[in-house]
Amino acid sequence: MDTSYQRLVASDADLLADFLINGEWPFHGPAALDRDTIRQRVFDGFYDGDESWTFWIVEGGERVGLIRLFDLADVPEGGAPLFDLRVDSAYRGRGLGGQALAWLTGYLFTEFPDLRRIEGTTRQDNRAMRRTFLSNGYVKEAHYRDAWPGTQGHVHDAVGYAILRRDWLSGATTLPDWNDEAPAT
Ligand SMILES: CC(C)(COP(=O)(O)OP(=O)(O)OC[C@H]1O[C@@H](n2cnc3c(N)ncnc32)[C@H](O)[C@@H]1OP(=O)(O)O)[C@@H](O)C(=O)NCCC(=O)NCCS
Repeated sequence: MDTSYQRLVASDADLLADFLINGEWPFHGPAALDRDTIRQRVFDGFYDGDESWTFWIVEGGERVGLIRLFDLADVPEGGAPLFDLRVDSAYRGRGLGGQALAWLTGYLFTEFPDLRRIEGTTRQDNRAMRRTFLSNGYVKEAHYRDAWPGTQGHVHDAVGYAILRRDWLSGATTLPDWNDEAPAT
């Protein structure tokens, strides 16, 4: 695959609006964004600024996906960045999402040498994203019941994953110690 990752620039605002408005994002909540809001967000630095950087996933010259890295301003204080990863529906299931997660993980750990962990949260029924996390060495660390508003009043559970720098470096997968409750006295 001929895949590259290109930083979003302000003049991409309309391309970004086309990508977000025309795409199918069943796991991104009920609120669809309109073009003016997306343009304004680009102008305000929501996609590229002190807090966030955004990259197109480009394959064969086509913009087929998007990676938004955020909470970056917290990293020097020890915080973990988060990300939003989207592949256009016509290009899903071909390995692009997995490849993009591997790329962004390496990119963040390289850009921020003191970064210890990267986090991601998704809806419980987002099977593709959950597989993508696991295939890239991310480990489930959290399960939030009734935490993700859906449509028509439904709520979903949310699940949180993370990868540690030390696991990324070694290729090992270390698990949280779930059996750490103190025994009843
Ligand atoms: C989630 C997403 C980024 C995955 O990207 P993708 O290019 O479709 O995924 P890949 O082809 O790289 O496959 C990654 C893994 O998911 C699995 N997978 C892909 N589609 C799947 C599906 N519909 N159901 C279950 N598993 C699926 C693959 O088999 C693969 O698993 P493996 O590594 O164990 O073999 C993509 O489907 C997407 O953009 N979805 C909509 C946006 C979204 O929900 N983003 C996540 C926001 S938190």
